[in-house]
Amino acid sequence: MRYIGSKAATLPAIQSIIETHASGATSLCDPFAGICTVARHFKRLGMRVETGDLLWGSYVFQLATIALNEPPAFDRLNAALGLQASNSGCALTPAATQGVLSWLERLPGRPGFMTANFSDAEPSGRRFFTPENAARIDAARVQIAEWRDDGLIDALEEAYLLACLLDAADRVANTAGTYMAHLKSWGRKALKSLEIRAIPIADNHAQNRCSRTDARETAKTNVDVLYLDPPYNTRDYSFYYHLPESLVLWDGAAPTGKSGVPAARRHPISDFCVRRRAASALEELLRQSNAKFVVIHYAADGLIRHGEILDMLKGKGKTRFVNLTVRSYSSSVQDEDVKAHHRIYWCHSH
Ligand SMILES: C[S@@+](CC[C@H](N)C(=O)[O-])C[C@H]1O[C@@H](n2cnc3c(N)ncnc32)[C@H](O)[C@@H]1O
Repeated sequence: MRYIGSKAATLPAIQSIIETHASGATSLCDPFAGICTVARHFKRLGMRVETGDLLWGSYVFQLATIALNEPPAFDRLNAALGLQASNSGCALTPAATQGVLSWLERLPGRPGFMTANFSDAEPSGRRFFTPENAARIDAARVQIAEWRDDGLIDALEEAYLLACLLDAADRVANTAGTYMAHLKSWGRKALKSLEIRAIPIADNHAQNRCSRTDARETAKTNVDVLYLDPPYNTRDYSFYYHLPESLVLWDGAAPTGKSGVPAARRHPISDFCVRRRAASALEELLRQSNAKFVVIHYAADGLIRHGEILDMLKGKGKTRFVNLTVRSYSSSVQDEDVKAHHRIYWCHSH
């Protein structure tokens, strides 16, 4: 899934800092987890991980890829559907999981909330999905809700299916990356047919923890490494990712305007997205954490100034930082090369 501020490109830099300066660390907390790019990476390397985020979309990714250590077997559901474990699964995805995903993928379209509000089949005219894909997303979402209501899947199995559906929907969304706007005409990926793929899961043989709470709560835990990747501008993720939130919550919240953001707010604006509150929010988080090693990723022109971050970390221990040039988010598909200046800070706590 494309996500603003996803750290896929900076994983090698983060890993190198942690391996060099916190060698022997066995646990990591990522309280601004997003789609869990960083937490998944360190889980794959064997660390125990704890994650959090405010968004429901993030929470299903956390449950699917961090809480679970293997794809769910869907025993009750498979028995009810009469699906046999066959050889159709690949090495990493058991046939039982693959069978359920294929079942969802093969459902005939059933026009509903997504079709009415986020395709141009209906007067809303919001071209986020083709009417065919929107109706298949509707069918899959209704089916997941029915399985849950009928007690055929548990909360983790539901989260895994929702994460796979979010990922599938994102791959055919007619957007340049976020859900604040759709493209005017159909882009190439939007014209592809919805494919529901298994999300890979790494097994670190540990009890990992996930939450949908404010980062200041999640960070109050005993871990070796605290990795902080807060938003650095006033773009609140709950606006930019309102559609995945609607797909997970499935609350029928009435969309408004061109982008379809629901009229009623689901989340308070994060303090980290408000200029006059961001620095004190970070300071409070750092004060309450007793992690042994802190890593902060932040934009050079972000709401919290470089000097303020250095001052906050000074209270913890000797701080170092590195400058990075990264590809930045742009709302235009043409602007692939917009660059931004970021820094990664790190320090050991006394
Ligand atoms: C820069 S993104 C993190 C991206 C993530 N590192 C990745 O690679 O996928 C920032 C995340 O912080 C979350 N967020 C914003 N304010 C928050 C808060 N007060 N507590 C927890 N999460 C918050 C946003 O929802 C968003 O997912």
